[in-house]
Amino acid sequence: MTHINSDYSKLTESYLFYETKLRAERFEAAHPERRLLRLGIGDVTLPLAPVVIEALHKAVDEQARQESFHGYMPELGMGFMKQAAAANYARRGVTVDPEEVFVCYGIGDDLGAIGGLFARENRVAVVEPAYPAYADTNIMSGRTIVPIPGTEENGFLPLPSPELEAELVYLCSPNNPTGAAYSKAQLQRWVDWANEQQAVIIFDAAYEAFITDPDVPHSIYELPGARECAIEMFSLSKSAGFTGTRLGYTVVPKALIREGRSLQQMWVRNRSTCTNGVSYLLQRAGEAALTEEGLRQSRANLGVYQKNAELLTAALDRCGVRYFGGQNAPYLWLRCPEGMDSWAFFDDLMERAGVVGTPGVGFGACGEGWFRFSCFSTPAVTAEAAERLIAYFA
Ligand code: MLT
Repeated sequence: MTHINSDYSKLTESYLFYETKLRAERFEAAHPERRLLRLGIGDVTLPLAPVVIEALHKAVDEQARQESFHGYMPELGMGFMKQAAAANYARRGVTVDPEEVFVCYGIGDDLGAIGGLFARENRVAVVEPAYPAYADTNIMSGRTIVPIPGTEENGFLPLPSPELEAELVYLCSPNNPTGAAYSKAQLQRWVDWANEQQAVIIFDAAYEAFITDPDVPHSIYELPGARECAIEMFSLSKSAGFTGTRLGYTVVPKALIREGRSLQQMWVRNRSTCTNGVSYLLQRAGEAALTEEGLRQSRANLGVYQKNAELLTAALDRCGVRYFGGQNAPYLWLRCPEGMDSWAFFDDLMERAGVVGTPGVGFGACGEGWFRFSCFSTPAVTAEAAERLIAYFA
């Protein structure tokens, strides 16, 4: 008989965004006359930048002709896309060797796979509240999770304590879901801790394009010592609207050595075994998104999402609701009213206001009693949601 992975029994029954989607669909089926406004999953709503569309069309035409046709892609990414990623770092004064860049379909895929570099015995510190896949992918691999709770008191930016015992740590800054962002000095504390402990940081930089505060680093590699201890994951999903297009990259520095082995070399071995590369079309799209013009065009979309954040924060301010975020990130993190728990508020807000958000407890136990709104909806939906929130909290 086949033995299945018994670690799956340690997972919550369903994945957070799957469960919220199911509840919203059930509600709609039961109330066809009601229109739900979705501020739940952080999914973009504005079209891709024109330069990206142009690059996609051009790449499709290349695939139509014998002389420019491409078959399998290199497993680690095309040279032009790795160069584009390295050039993106160079704009911030960070040196990344293209050989340290591994092109992927997005952070989700690499989060699932990166654990393959590490032994099952490693204890995994997750700064929570956090994107649920950090913990879930490690639970599936049999690792023990050490939650590091973010709280209102520490501004949802916990720092390593001398007692912390872990070999891997997951950090996301600006943070999903709270929107809190580590300053350079704060993030340096994590880098120093990891180097002292010979631990490895998995740094999720998916929301870096939303940073407005000059003291918040866009990449962990802006900090001394980070190349010796950190793997960084970057996605075009939020920065360039690629949630449905897919593209990202993971950086594994050559200086990252543990137990005498190069993690960059191990990741080459992993990717060349486990993937067949990323579509040529998407890599051309990604290259275009990372040109000066691509970044400029995408920034116009980010400006729309930032305006959405302003609309929602104005509504919450008016209602006297306590919240974090909305500054360096496209999320608002608010206290549930009247001591409600996160799921009770999810249901009540959906039923009474027809607004769907994400229950904070889905991002870790310390998220109980909190709730997240995404600012990625269209301006029209966001404006209507803001009105409904004002009526709900009145
Ligand atoms: C979120 O809503 O937290 C994200 O959009 C989910 C994701 O990036 O997969």
